[in-house]
Amino acid sequence: MAVQRIYLDHNATTPIHPQVVERMAATLRDTYGNPSSVHHFGQQAKAALDEARSAVAALVGAEPSEVVFTSGGTEGDNFAIRGAAEALEAGGRRHLITSAIEHEAVLNTMKALAKRGWRTTVLPVGETGIVSPADLEAALADDTALVSIMHANNEIGTIQPIGELAGLAHKRGALFHTDAVQSAGKLPIDVKRLGVDLLTTSAHKFYGPKGVGATWVRRGLRLLPILYGGRHERSRRAGTENVAGIVGMGVAARLAVPTMASEAERLAALRDHLETAVLAAIPGTAVNGARAQRVPNTTNISFDRTEAESLLIALDLAGIAVSTGSACSSGTLEPSHVLKAMGLPPHRTQNSIRFSLGHATTAADVERVVAVLPGIVDKLRSLTRVPVRA
Ligand SMILES: Cc1ncc(COP(=O)(O)O)c(C=O)c1O
Repeated sequence: MAVQRIYLDHNATTPIHPQVVERMAATLRDTYGNPSSVHHFGQQAKAALDEARSAVAALVGAEPSEVVFTSGGTEGDNFAIRGAAEALEAGGRRHLITSAIEHEAVLNTMKALAKRGWRTTVLPVGETGIVSPADLEAALADDTALVSIMHANNEIGTIQPIGELAGLAHKRGALFHTDAVQSAGKLPIDVKRLGVDLLTTSAHKFYGPKGVGATWVRRGLRLLPILYGGRHERSRRAGTENVAGIVGMGVAARLAVPTMASEAERLAALRDHLETAVLAAIPGTAVNGARAQRVPNTTNISFDRTEAESLLIALDLAGIAVSTGSACSSGTLEPSHVLKAMGLPPHRTQNSIRFSLGHATTAADVERVVAVLPGIVDKLRSLTRVPVRA
């Protein structure tokens, strides 16, 4: 009998929405002009880009002219950080600040700039997984060029106090970028209310295609491009646009808005039920990160005396797809840098599983997980004789 498959790894990527596929297929087939061409075919493609730009702008409360399409969250993070740092370098601002729980796209961009002479400060987080505004205030200096702190964390889902953090950065004349890859499409975002200068999103996290994203750049802000070439994207990102991908992102953005609030409520209820039931049924379990301040679809739970990779494989054999952390670092057997940064002991950093729910997740899916998980954990624990910690 075929295994019934349950996908609980929506923070790694989401299944593409059927309406997105339809529009992308039609665009690939019919809208093949180069958006830079002046003839009918080019203008048709340009109109498709414009429509998608408006949709993505509406998703984050921005003006269409402020949206720069990229190849995804990784490029967007690189563009925002390197583009701002390099533009501000001549003015003598050579200091950058980030947090220890950022995605590798931010952390490794910072490391690359550190090798090239920028001073970088990596802010710690406590067990809550939330950056403290007081820590940022203490780290800011007169030569701080940019602060980059994510909106929602991909592994534990915690939401950072972006408005307050951005306000502190601005007081010292620094720019503020937020990686909103895990919040765009899940939470209402208004770039003006958040008070940031740069914000990065990625389509495949909200039922759009992979390999396309958008970075919002506040009007008037000067960034150096990371790709040089033609004058695409107002000379901010050269290269003939991925028209079908961008159209797909636009459709996904339009689809996300009307259902966002009700979907958030539905997923939070399912996630909370999953969490409560797992914690009640399995001794030696704990939720990682502040429970109150999280995106609605994510929970990260540690299972004492249960090696996370073994649990992931056992769950996969039972038809349940979860993750041990971010998709980019899974398979490395390295404990999560996020959980380590939170100061959690090895029996939690190495024994944690992320469950991330999405549109297709049903109450029945959650009940199935709750039904099979205790037995799987028991079996894995029976292979070791160390007592379970409370
Ligand atoms: C918080 C965060 N930032 C950036 C990225 C990278 O986005 P992309 O996969 O579009 O390059 C991810 C993807 O997992 C993410 O979760």
